[in-house]
Amino acid sequence: MATTYDAILVRLQAAFDEIEPGCDPVLRSSDRTDFQVNGVMSLAKRLGRPPREVAEEIVERLDLDHVADVEIAGPGFLNLTLRPEFLSDQVAQLVNDERLGVVAATTPLRVVVDYSAPNVAKEMHVGHLRSTVIGDALHRLYRFQGHHVIARNHVGDWGTPFGMLIEHLVDMGEQNAIETLSIGDLDSFYRSARAKFDADEAFRERSRARVVTLQAGDPETLRLWRILVDQSVAYFSEVYGKLDILLRPIDVVGESFYNGALEGVVRDLDALGLIEDSDGAQCVFPPGFTNRDGEPLPVIVQKRDEGFGYAATDLAAIRDRVDTLAADEILYVVGTPQAQHFEMVFAVARMAGWLPDRVRCEHVNFGNVLGTDRKMFKTRSGETIKLVALLDEAIDRADAALTERDADLDGDARRQLATVVARAAIKYADLSTERQRDYVFDLDRMVAFEGDTGPYLAYAHARVRSIFRRLDAPYEPTRATFALAHPAERALALGLLGFPEAFSGALTALAPHRLCAYLFDLAQTFTSFYEACPVLNAPDEIREERLALCDLTARTLALGLELLGIEAPERM
Ligand code: ARG
Repeated sequence: MATTYDAILVRLQAAFDEIEPGCDPVLRSSDRTDFQVNGVMSLAKRLGRPPREVAEEIVERLDLDHVADVEIAGPGFLNLTLRPEFLSDQVAQLVNDERLGVVAATTPLRVVVDYSAPNVAKEMHVGHLRSTVIGDALHRLYRFQGHHVIARNHVGDWGTPFGMLIEHLVDMGEQNAIETLSIGDLDSFYRSARAKFDADEAFRERSRARVVTLQAGDPETLRLWRILVDQSVAYFSEVYGKLDILLRPIDVVGESFYNGALEGVVRDLDALGLIEDSDGAQCVFPPGFTNRDGEPLPVIVQKRDEGFGYAATDLAAIRDRVDTLAADEILYVVGTPQAQHFEMVFAVARMAGWLPDRVRCEHVNFGNVLGTDRKMFKTRSGETIKLVALLDEAIDRADAALTERDADLDGDARRQLATVVARAAIKYADLSTERQRDYVFDLDRMVAFEGDTGPYLAYAHARVRSIFRRLDAPYEPTRATFALAHPAERALALGLLGFPEAFSGALTALAPHRLCAYLFDLAQTFTSFYEACPVLNAPDEIREERLALCDLTARTLALGLELLGIEAPERM
């Protein structure tokens, strides 16, 4: 089924094309009318003609099949009112469509989404929270569109710190270390290792020697390293479980996975004549990247000490993703501070021919998480805040809020619901701000049942569902015609029909906040409808129609939230 928007756009585009081929009509939904066309003014400007005259010409050429009325308004806007039969048909099609108007991709793409990527033996911080939540939403959006998503959790599991971490593990005793790590005390483990490294020369020596044996592949050293990795990954999985994240242990393909390919990266870049020696380091200088003094900036592929760095690993990962995984798109959900790293790595990969033009490769960057004081979100003593502690606190607050709302809810059920509410709160707060912007982590605001919050939307869904529990028999959606006589019914119908555009807007711009804004809007449109239009007490004919609109609203909210990784319980 073509979406309502598309059906109108095709006809409008044809009228515009007759005057100026390819000109965008700028069709938008509107509060005042069914749809508004905003593109006439810029077309008129380009033609040097009066806008209202151009507007009239468009109206003359417009195929009015689906349109009952066109009004030329203001300086040259077109206000379109749709034909009632057309609207009725469109809504009736939604009733029988599980996908609520979203058409599955005809050519599924292979899409690698690189997200979460915490570091072994280090606490996940709020930056990893954002990557995890945004990446998971993109994963779900792409999957629903019908693409093949390959999740990659590029955990930091290699590099010089592992010498010190392994030595610390040896000092602590394996069993002891495993216990510390398995309860998620990663930071204290890391910090003790670091403190010893800074204070104790002998420990430093041992650590350095350990890096060498690790890189040489010494089996005993690798066994110890594995303990660190396995314990950390088990802990990350627990966090993902708590947050209801799709990432599985097999999606963990950490930096170490690419070790065997790093020599080849240098060799092949060298054979292409791209490598330059800079102070003993092997570098590529992609054109267009300079420091403040205008000197060219290197991508360091191999360090002077022969070790490979973060950039070399990312180059090897691109080759793997393009050649082995046959990716059509690669998305990196990583904070804005790494923007230059990715730009430069992508540039080198393109220079080397490893990243063909047909492969879309994008850094899906995001802003910082701030405290309510608008400074970087840290504990008072300046430490990173544990994600799990945040989540637990959110659960406590949700629990308190639920107790206040409904004192009869029994303990277990309430706790379970509190978990769902807490996840909704944290994920929605993150996803609803434009991702490039910073956002303030304010649990009180996030957990509130009023305002533009996750709990509000989940509750809006449960409230619609509660209408159906008051029916005598289970509800069967069968409605085939919609009169939409009341303006609030019409507004709700148009809102429901807008789901596919909100979905594809969020997907193409990699902008989950657009879907959030749509859902919030829909919930409010529903509230106005429900205030103006009685449902259960309406006469039979109208009641059927209104029930169908309610059912579609609940389904749309549930699906939209699910695509954001947020559960919508039947009752709250
Ligand atoms: N582990 C890195 C960090 O914590 C993020 C890795 C992102 N992904 C990548 N392919 N570089 O900053």
